[in-house]
Amino acid sequence: MEISGSDSDGREFKNAEEMWREQVGDPSKKTDWYRHGVGYWEGVEASVDGVLGGYGHVDKADILGSEAFLNTLFSERFPNAAAPNQHHLVALDCGSGIGRVTKNLLLRYFNEVDLVEPVSHFLEAARESLSLENHVASEMHKATNFFCVPLQEFTPDAGRYDVIWVQWCIGHLTDNDFVSFFKRAKVGLKPGGFFVLKENIARSGFVLDNVDRSITRSDSYFKELFRQCGLHLYKSKDQKGLPEELFAVKMYALTTELPKKVHHTRSKGQINRPRIIK
Ligand SMILES: C[S@@+](CC[C@H](N)C(=O)[O-])C[C@H]1O[C@@H](n2cnc3c(N)ncnc32)[C@H](O)[C@@H]1O
Repeated sequence: MEISGSDSDGREFKNAEEMWREQVGDPSKKTDWYRHGVGYWEGVEASVDGVLGGYGHVDKADILGSEAFLNTLFSERFPNAAAPNQHHLVALDCGSGIGRVTKNLLLRYFNEVDLVEPVSHFLEAARESLSLENHVASEMHKATNFFCVPLQEFTPDAGRYDVIWVQWCIGHLTDNDFVSFFKRAKVGLKPGGFFVLKENIARSGFVLDNVDRSITRSDSYFKELFRQCGLHLYKSKDQKGLPEELFAVKMYALTTELPKKVHHTRSKGQINRPRIIK
């Protein structure tokens, strides 16, 4: 990827290849990259504030933005979803953390949600808060499977999911693992199903975070990776209402088939978790 970038300490990289060679250029470095990434989150409290990097108060705006995007996608792609007994909708929440997105959004739209998350204390907190006893879920809208595994090692069951939701976690994956994850995950989609990727966006190139070992990619960086995955951009939307000091945040709906029409919304400004621009 011929785009320059920097790290959280202000160091410049000529291009992404230089950065990736340095970070994950041999097997032991790659093991370290993922160990540090998960290790960072193993030290974080299992709470909304914890998974949102101290910005727990953006949860509401984030969920409202996601819901508006999902509503549009539902009306276009699953127009009969509301009809009784017509659809049994299933979603996968990737890098789910404590199940914040599942609890506040996905369970209201899907009959079943599976969660995949490598940090066991987050996943146990999700299991607890999403249990039927806590009345968040019901027999008709429940969290079914809890997979404690990182995305670079995960392959979904074939044809299980209407939507695979990936939010504020893909920055932990190297470019190669990003592409191989989405290529594998495609088989997990039902016909007509799609991915939603919601992520921080760098103004240009990329920003490497030396603390949690993640990378924030620009919109054009993401689009190049989508191309390598063989995914099509069906629709995208900017998240509104987040504090100005954070990276811009964008939502992408991605399909395996060529979309009949593509809608783009314009990015007016500038927000993996909401984070301060360094
Ligand atoms: C900023 S939190 C977001 C959690 C959740 N998606 C949300 O929006 O509330 C980042 C999450 O990515 C997870 N994560 C870190 N490395 C990962 C990996 N290699 N594969 C999948 N998830 C990962 C972390 O454990 C953490 O739960």
